[in-house]
Amino acid sequence: MYLVIGSTGFIGRHLVKELAAKHPGQVRALVRPGKQTVLTGIPGVETVEGDVTDRASLDKAVSGVDTLFHFAAITGNIKNTNNIYWKVNVEGTRNIVAAAEKAGVRRIILGGGLGTVEGKEGSYMRTRWLMEEAARKSNLAWTILQPSILFGEGSEFFEAQARIMKILPVAALIGGGKARFQPVFVDDVVKAAILSAEREDKIGKTIELGGPEYYTYTELVNLILRAIHKKRLKLPLPLWVMSINATLFSVLPKPPFTPAMVELFSFDNVTPDPQIIEHEFGFKPASLKPYLAEHGIKA
Ligand SMILES: NC(=O)c1ccc[n+]([C@@H]2O[C@H](COP(=O)([O-])OP(=O)(O)OC[C@H]3O[C@@H](n4cnc5c(N)ncnc54)[C@H](OP(=O)(O)O)[C@@H]3O)[C@@H](O)[C@H]2O)c1
Repeated sequence: MYLVIGSTGFIGRHLVKELAAKHPGQVRALVRPGKQTVLTGIPGVETVEGDVTDRASLDKAVSGVDTLFHFAAITGNIKNTNNIYWKVNVEGTRNIVAAAEKAGVRRIILGGGLGTVEGKEGSYMRTRWLMEEAARKSNLAWTILQPSILFGEGSEFFEAQARIMKILPVAALIGGGKARFQPVFVDDVVKAAILSAEREDKIGKTIELGGPEYYTYTELVNLILRAIHKKRLKLPLPLWVMSINATLFSVLPKPPFTPAMVELFSFDNVTPDPQIIEHEFGFKPASLKPYLAEHGIKA
């Protein structure tokens, strides 16, 4: 039995679909109450209600599971209300690991993020690091995947920015637009996750994932504008300005920018090896530009 936690998320939805096609009747998806409908239309999946902050619900969900995919998190674009980064990313992952160990789950594949480091106490990055550490320190056979930004149907990185760029007369070049990214197709991350679960040589490894090209943030903004057929004045905004903006925006219930996002734009989000997926998993990942030319960006 396979269990997907974070099944209703961007990566999770694609993963459940692919896993269920490959192993019909052997896929269980943890969904938060009221979220079942997100997976409607995917046959061969059993859903179980639960929450990573509720240990009892996890004990039920992991029963009889051999391989667990953990792609649940509070991502940096969400406001840190009531210490939610810590509760979900750190305590939630510790709960998952404890429940899985107790139930005799063999394998865990965890979705982390490229460039995750220990970070400062109290930072978003620290919660991402401790989330990964919970898997590394477990008795489970673990693999951590650390993708750069993802593209594909439902990608918040591209779709949220496209929505903002449609409305605003200027496009902000966060951090001056110089940070580099290596966009990777969601289906390729899913493929890497499933292959990781199948391959013994991936046990105990933290694997970075990136697509075949590097882009600066400025180049990505240009690609998004082209995809939505808009021309905008580009305004370089240094990270310190963004940091002040993020603090000011934090009074809003759904801020367009958070302090966690400032953290994530403060380093290059690329792997040293541009062919990392081919070298690790033996397949060629998709390129961003042809994908955008064919599918555009929903905004
Ligand atoms: N997308 C990217 O470009 C990208 C890049 C690098 C790394 N990653 C990492 O990959 C992982 C998945 O990313 P994503 O883009 O798929 O995120 P996402 O779309 O925001 O999905 C997050 C998932 O976590 C679930 N979740 C949140 N709180 C929960 C809780 N208390 N209990 C149970 N489930 C909970 C959400 O459930 P609900 O639907 O109920 O909210 C959702 O299914 C994250 O760790 C992310 O940082 C993503």
